[in-house]
Amino acid sequence: MNLHRCRIVFAVGSLCVMLTSSRAEVTGPTAYGKTADGTAVEQYVLKNKNGMVAKLITFGATVTELEVPDKKGKTADVVLGFDTVAGYQSEDNQYFGCTTGRVCNRIAKGKFTLDGKEYKLAVNNGENHLHGGAKRSLDRVVWKAEPLKDKNAVRFTYSSPDGEEGYPGKLDVSVTYTLTDKNELRIEYAATTDKATPVNLTNHSYFNLSGHGSDTILDHELTIPADKYTPTDEGLIPTGKIADVAGTPIDFNKPTKIGARIEKLVKTPTLGYDHNFVLGKHDLTTPIATVRDPKSGRVLTVYTDQPAVQLYTGNFLKGQKGKGGKVYKHQSALCLETQHYPDSVNHPEFPSIILKPGQTYKHVCVYAFSAE
Ligand code: BGC
Repeated sequence: MNLHRCRIVFAVGSLCVMLTSSRAEVTGPTAYGKTADGTAVEQYVLKNKNGMVAKLITFGATVTELEVPDKKGKTADVVLGFDTVAGYQSEDNQYFGCTTGRVCNRIAKGKFTLDGKEYKLAVNNGENHLHGGAKRSLDRVVWKAEPLKDKNAVRFTYSSPDGEEGYPGKLDVSVTYTLTDKNELRIEYAATTDKATPVNLTNHSYFNLSGHGSDTILDHELTIPADKYTPTDEGLIPTGKIADVAGTPIDFNKPTKIGARIEKLVKTPTLGYDHNFVLGKHDLTTPIATVRDPKSGRVLTVYTDQPAVQLYTGNFLKGQKGKGGKVYKHQSALCLETQHYPDSVNHPEFPSIILKPGQTYKHVCVYAFSAE
């Protein structure tokens, strides 16, 4: 090719890139709807230069949509959710995309003792406490929000009064979602308190890398480089043991299809994967989980600074209707919830989740997307 033709090809190529790529931007707040008690809920939209889009609402500081390109550059919304606030407030909402806390996962019998005082929490999962309570858990309240335009981020804040859902201390929480041009949704949590109190926050996004409402995630291939997990009893409360994954269906050290061994778990209390992996030595540059969808080629890589991750394969999804009338059938999505071990408040041998006045709780979770 001569130099002149080469220049023309280059110019046309650059024009195509300019036309197809967009700029990173934050839009919002825009009105999303109202809760049953009339509180306004707002939406924010983050876009990056590759066409990835994250939509977030102030109800539960929730991720409602995540448009991610596949290997051909075609985007699909890879998270479960609803189209309305009423959907998010309905019985069909099994914590889709929300911020979960004050303490995510389970607390045995909804009780713990701190500094000699016993605290009683809502019992909302069999005889146990799940995901911060029944009425005013962090997923059910309306947060304040501010766009951080120069960072392509939105920061949500909520001040939980002393005693809310039975937890001690006034807890000031923030969750910042940033969408980077490396196709990462970065979630950064911070919290402070005026009394010693347990804190264990997570994001509860349900992913199906073929797009929400697609078939099951049993063909998604998962890697979790972890040698240990916290076995649980019939109520999914840790027994206190830290067991080896080796030789069990819970070993994902080598890439394995989620459906390859799940049958061995369906008759156990977890009904599928609902396990907390103890993460070995890692930092924010070491993947703690990788999920590959052979159909779309989309890959989700998870990074965190937390000591554990809960793998949950949507075993309680019941065919409810979500966004655009799509049906969310049994095991049609998975959650990878970065966190501390479940029921840590009742297990002094587990890393502590007690936050004291003067300290700041911090947690980073990165959901990074690529395609191959
Ligand atoms: C838990 C499941 C629970 C689900 C609720 C997950 O974090 O591990 O046991 O059923 O949340 O949607």
